[in-house]
Amino acid sequence: MDAYYSPPSIAEAVAGALTVAPANVLDPSCGGGELLRAVADRFRLPRVFGVDADESAVRSVRTRFPEWIVSRGDATSSKSLSRTRVARLLGACDAMVINPPFSMNRQRRVVTVTDDGELSSSQAMQHLIVACCEFEPAHAIAVLPESLLYSELDGAARRWLQNTYELTVLAELDPDAFGGARARTHLIRLERAARPQVPRSAREGTQPGARRALAVRRGSLQMFRAQPGRVPLLHTTDLIPTLTAGAIVASRRVRSVGSGQTAGYFVLVPRVGSFPREFRVSLMHSDSPVQLSDCLFSIEFFSRSDGHRFVREVRREWDSFIGLLRGTGAAYVTLARLRAWIAENTSFEAFSVGPKRRSGESTRPSNSACQRNRPRLDVAAGS
Ligand SMILES: C[S@@+](CC[C@H](N)C(=O)[O-])C[C@H]1O[C@@H](n2cnc3c(N)ncnc32)[C@H](O)[C@@H]1O
Repeated sequence: MDAYYSPPSIAEAVAGALTVAPANVLDPSCGGGELLRAVADRFRLPRVFGVDADESAVRSVRTRFPEWIVSRGDATSSKSLSRTRVARLLGACDAMVINPPFSMNRQRRVVTVTDDGELSSSQAMQHLIVACCEFEPAHAIAVLPESLLYSELDGAARRWLQNTYELTVLAELDPDAFGGARARTHLIRLERAARPQVPRSAREGTQPGARRALAVRRGSLQMFRAQPGRVPLLHTTDLIPTLTAGAIVASRRVRSVGSGQTAGYFVLVPRVGSFPREFRVSLMHSDSPVQLSDCLFSIEFFSRSDGHRFVREVRREWDSFIGLLRGTGAAYVTLARLRAWIAENTSFEAFSVGPKRRSGESTRPSNSACQRNRPRLDVAAGS
């Protein structure tokens, strides 16, 4: 089972690489629990979660740290992980530490099924991607073999991972650090890209079946104030069928107005006007900020799988969703009405982010440009 446990020096390096105190920590192949202990000690963390396939390791960690939640499970199988007590109690995973088994046991490759299809990889990479799929940690510090960073075998999985995480190599570790197993390993940081700024308390549902969080952001650029600049603009009228090779193609670039910008995984909803016949709610992605006109809302997700789930749920309630835009004059939807609809019709809880509406500011569309031009939200998407 590749039980080359981390010595204290490596565990301290892993804990030290976490720059902000996390709300909880998980190791999906925790062995003797050394990585978890180092993080728990450094940040005085009460919420500590471990999984391992080795029954004796699980028993011994439970004995040494009775306050931790430790489960036996196969970390290469989402199904096995999802059935563990850890998965039931963890809620949103803030930090993951991982030093997975490296050896391939005479296999040349292993195959993992993700939302986006099958990925071939090394075993170490499989451990990493299954844990990222299942627990979607916001941050992770990983001890990984050098090959995972450069090999062709792990190329597709690396690109898949980089859709959601920014990978940074922090250090090359001493090849003799792991006792009997000499290996070139690196300390890697994974940071989930562009997370919505939902309050931490909202992300820490510990109840089974807790609602997942998303963020709703209102666009802010009034079109008559738009100045040419560098930031791609999304507006109901000039939104072009979108993702080309994963990047948003916007017909205009504008000067940033400092608010009402979206990034990461998101869905656009017109704030005013009506839903055109060809509109299909779709998941979009941008690594860098996109300026939203004040005719749009962006619904932002913590992960691609959350976004796909939301899109599926909205499509199931399509008639009710397009009924959201209404009004005696021009049709419009308010932030409060959108949030209430999300709470009633989906498994998500919506938080608003970005600047608050100023008192006295109307929720009704102020900009007749939003109404004059029928929205053309024929969005191509990652769903
Ligand atoms: C290299 S050790 C690391 C242990 C611990 N994270 C540390 O750094 O000290 C790898 C661990 O993975 C566990 N393991 C191997 N295959 C596993 C699987 N399919 N699911 C969960 N754990 C597994 C082993 O039992 C072992 O404890």
